[in-house]
Amino acid sequence: MISKFANCLECGNTGLLDKKVYYPFCGLIGEEYCLCATGDKAFRRWCGSEEVQKAICFIRQEEVNKALAFSEIPSHWKEKTPVSLEGQENLILTVNRYLDGFPKFREQGIGMYLWSEGSGRGKTHVLSTVCNELIQRYLVPCIFMTEEQMYFRIREAYQNPAVSEKKQYRKFMEAKCLFLDDLGATKITPWKNEVLTGILDYRLNHRLPTFFTSNFSPEGYEQNLQSSSIARPGRITSRIYEMCRGFILEVKGEDFRKKLAFKLQNQI
Ligand SMILES: Nc1ncnc2c1ncn2[C@@H]1O[C@H](COP(=O)(O)OP(=O)(O)OP(=O)(O)O)[C@@H](O)[C@H]1O
Ligand SMILES: [Mg+2]
Ligand SMILES: [Zn+2]
Repeated sequence: MISKFANCLECGNTGLLDKKVYYPFCGLIGEEYCLCATGDKAFRRWCGSEEVQKAICFIRQEEVNKALAFSEIPSHWKEKTPVSLEGQENLILTVNRYLDGFPKFREQGIGMYLWSEGSGRGKTHVLSTVCNELIQRYLVPCIFMTEEQMYFRIREAYQNPAVSEKKQYRKFMEAKCLFLDDLGATKITPWKNEVLTGILDYRLNHRLPTFFTSNFSPEGYEQNLQSSSIARPGRITSRIYEMCRGFILEVKGEDFRKKLAFKLQNQI
């Protein structure tokens, strides 16, 4: 069959329009291609070239770097990937199941709650791999900080007229993915409780995934609130159960910090 553009009057069958244009998808200035079949073929060939592929990779890496900076994830945790997790096969399987199914879990607003009573079990390590992978794979804007740092940011806004407290508060409410490390690590006050309940309530209603690490199981966290005389202590935990359903995980094993210290000692 002869194409209706077989003899193209626009480009004389060269495929090129003798003009340079900017292509935002790769950030390069290139030839403008004709809309005819020859032009289309030439455009596709150019898109597959090393020059364009390299430019696309560069743009993506820039976006990943921007998202990592925005997330505020500490540099120590920035390079953690599921591969960097030693000896936690079951946990790695669950983390990978979450990461692979993220588009679905995201729609449902499902996050993760990692807990262990003991320290150094790898909760923050695992959670940071989840944050890094969500940024690398899906380019989701994430915020990663401790629960206490979050209160500090909101309190800071109270004292600084240049930063709107409401805006700070909303930042945590509306973050596409919020990672709160060390939930319950410091003494809870009625103010903190109100702030956290408000943020979690908004996130639950808007199906925004929230991720936690804690030295308390959800029940233990509730008991802790109760012993701090917080009114209606079940409000936070009830929301956590719903937000993290299927991914409330106890991190078992030994203290990695202790293990590392013994290993280093034996090398001396
Ligand atoms: N599976 C793992 N493979 C290799 N290193 C690990 C693993 N889990 C943890 N580590 C390392 O052990 C140290 C302690 O881990 P991490 O800070 O994640 O513990 P944690 O459970 O969050 O402790 P805490 O309850 O005190 O917050 C970190 O340096 C971390 O990189
Ligand atoms: Mg930790
Ligand atoms: Zn043409």
